[in-house]
Amino acid sequence: MPRETAIALPLLESKNDDRLFLQRFSLTYEFAVLFTRDTFSTDNRTFADLISGPKGETPARVSVILDEGVLREMPDLKRRIAAYVETCPGAILAGPVEMIVGGEAAKNDPTLLTDLQRRFVDNGLDRHSYVVCIGGGAVLDLVGYAAATTHRGIRHIRVPTTVLAQNDSGVGVKNGINAFGMKNMLGTFMPPHAVINDSAFIDVLPGRDKRAGMAEAVKVALIRDRAFFEWLEEKAEALALFASEPLEKLIRHCALLHMRQIAHGGDPFERGSVRPLDFGHWAAHKLEVLSDYGLRHGEAVAIGIALDTRYSVLAGLLPAGEDLRVARLLSRLGFELWHEACDVRDDSGALQLLKGLEEFREHLGGDLTITLLGALGVGIEVHSMDPELIGQSLEWLRGEAGI
Ligand SMILES: NC(=O)c1ccc[n+]([C@@H]2O[C@H](COP(=O)([O-])OP(=O)(O)OC[C@H]3O[C@@H](n4cnc5c(N)ncnc54)[C@H](O)[C@@H]3O)[C@@H](O)[C@H]2O)c1
Ligand SMILES: [Zn+2]
Repeated sequence: MPRETAIALPLLESKNDDRLFLQRFSLTYEFAVLFTRDTFSTDNRTFADLISGPKGETPARVSVILDEGVLREMPDLKRRIAAYVETCPGAILAGPVEMIVGGEAAKNDPTLLTDLQRRFVDNGLDRHSYVVCIGGGAVLDLVGYAAATTHRGIRHIRVPTTVLAQNDSGVGVKNGINAFGMKNMLGTFMPPHAVINDSAFIDVLPGRDKRAGMAEAVKVALIRDRAFFEWLEEKAEALALFASEPLEKLIRHCALLHMRQIAHGGDPFERGSVRPLDFGHWAAHKLEVLSDYGLRHGEAVAIGIALDTRYSVLAGLLPAGEDLRVARLLSRLGFELWHEACDVRDDSGALQLLKGLEEFREHLGGDLTITLLGALGVGIEVHSMDPELIGQSLEWLRGEAGI
């Protein structure tokens, strides 16, 4: 009888049980967030350094997608980008710079996703290529998702052009689109290859969007950084006038707080149920839908923050008076703290907004976990909210907080 050849087992942990082998590896993510100005002027090499490869190697293919709203303000940007990439050794444009509709519409039309994926394939992109997206948070979310799902992941460089995208979404690790009547229902966790925060884009941003992004700064200050909250109070008047110096500071500090939370908060891909960066967001996401996206994300977040701060007081978690202080800051920044979407009811008279709580829970699964405030600068987690107190908080927003 021929003897069976002995084959060595690959080295895998087996816990002394030959039916169980553990597969285990880890990945470290690292990406640069660069603060600069006039990225596509040829003497600024920030972008060139990111995409340029060694001379003599096959050049990396670069697809650039541009938010329509940005192009409206900077009509010669397409031409400048094309001229700039010409100056980058080891990189070539894989097709003309493409434009895409800006705002939430980009995340609401599923055909845009397949159009982009097809375009990446037609442009011959591969995993050594770059998808560069220049735009607001909505377009970045859509293009990031398309890049993450084509070839199972093409490198994605974000160039956020709104306050919100520069100080929050653009430096994060999520992307996605809206589907089945819900925000961000489809998407992936995929860190970008790099992020370029260019202040020149903020200069041309309409005031409404400059303001909207400030809500995320108030949010992260309230859960993590009391000194930042006090700084925001000090600068509220200048910020409401969109003075560029404090606005740049706000963007940078807020972006760094978001980055710190993602890197050191212990759950970058939100596997658990705690989402501290989503303070005020259970209501905000629902209000965006209930207002038919008439409310900007940041505007809805401002209402959500005021609501959950008042609720924190009513629930006995936060000292009385702090709610008014938060509402006052938001008002001084120019936010409206009431919108008719807060009061949309179904046939039985039930508040539609309350459904936002369950949808928030469903998005992650597991226990409902909502961040409220224990003090200004200190977020705390709770696992239920009393509809009666939510109703009272809304009444407060409609009346007293509309200072
Ligand atoms: N992925 C995440 O982690 C994350 C986090 C927070 C928010 N978001 C998402 O971000 C989106 C909101 O993003 P947003 O607040 O940046 O708004 P937005 O992307 O909806 O853009 C608002 C408007 O501004 C225009 N625009 C963008 N930049 C401009 C510029 N520099 N000049 C002139 N017009 C410009 C756009 O065309 C659009 O019309 C929401 O969909 C929200 O869900 C995602
Ligand atoms: Zn947000």
